[in-house]
Amino acid sequence: MDEISQYNSPGYTTFKMKLKKLIGIDLSSYKDQIHRRTHELMNRWGCKSYDDYYDILQKDEHKLREFLDHLTINVSEFFRNDSQWWKMRDKLIPELIQKRGTKRLKLWSAGCATGEEPYSLAILSTVCGLDQMNPVLAADIDQGAIAIAQKGIYKKTQLINAPKEYLAKYFTTTDGGNTYSVNPEIKRRVTFKRMNMIEDSFGSGFDLILCRNVVIYFTAETKAKLYKKFFDALAPGGYFLVGSTEQIFGYQQIGFESAGPFLYTKK
Ligand SMILES: C[S@@+](CC[C@H](N)C(=O)[O-])C[C@H]1O[C@@H](n2cnc3c(N)ncnc32)[C@H](O)[C@@H]1O
Repeated sequence: MDEISQYNSPGYTTFKMKLKKLIGIDLSSYKDQIHRRTHELMNRWGCKSYDDYYDILQKDEHKLREFLDHLTINVSEFFRNDSQWWKMRDKLIPELIQKRGTKRLKLWSAGCATGEEPYSLAILSTVCGLDQMNPVLAADIDQGAIAIAQKGIYKKTQLINAPKEYLAKYFTTTDGGNTYSVNPEIKRRVTFKRMNMIEDSFGSGFDLILCRNVVIYFTAETKAKLYKKFFDALAPGGYFLVGSTEQIFGYQQIGFESAGPFLYTKK
């Protein structure tokens, strides 16, 4: 194996350090699949060393964007794994409203990508009658993804799980019915924020946090730290939902209790 293809090579270590300064993301927190992705791009641009690739990233905004896209993998859709959403709508949110004695809840889509998840939450917040102006926080490390999210324009294929009545009520169609724009009253319910969840501190008092299909790219150590931060950010009685291929190993040690598949609660 040559120097360039090794995960622990000095060249890669230096590359990671320089990149952390450039974009504020520490690749050491991500699994080695990110290393493979870096290589795919290096091969694409004929780079023989990490230094060559770093020079390109530093000078060429488009290639830096491409690198970030590979790193952040923004794939998402409205009401992804839909049974979880109907459980939030029919059980968790109504229960929280009752427990708290208020229609004001703090909801957070952590790793919100291009907005499908926080807008889905915003729709449920309306359907469930939450009455505050902006109940949903949406955070992602990728400013480019957030910019797309803020536009709130989607292809029909991203909305296959959305019930017809939601499409009619919360979206406006253009382009002969192929493009859907999120209506302003739903957009207003979401506050977008750039955040590196590994480095930045979280707020507190959240009633429901979704962190789905994000930590799958992180090392076990980084995951453990993040889960502790999410636990601390939750209000007692709040829920934490992970992706439908994920589970928190040792959740009891953190303080979580299981509340069903992919769902945890803080008593
Ligand atoms: C596959 S998307 C998940 C989108 C959505 N949660 C879902 O399940 O459909 C993963 C998102 O995690 C974000 N992400 C990766 N590392 C992050 C970090 N350190 N802090 C915040 N967001 C991060 C990426 O930018 C990307 O938008």
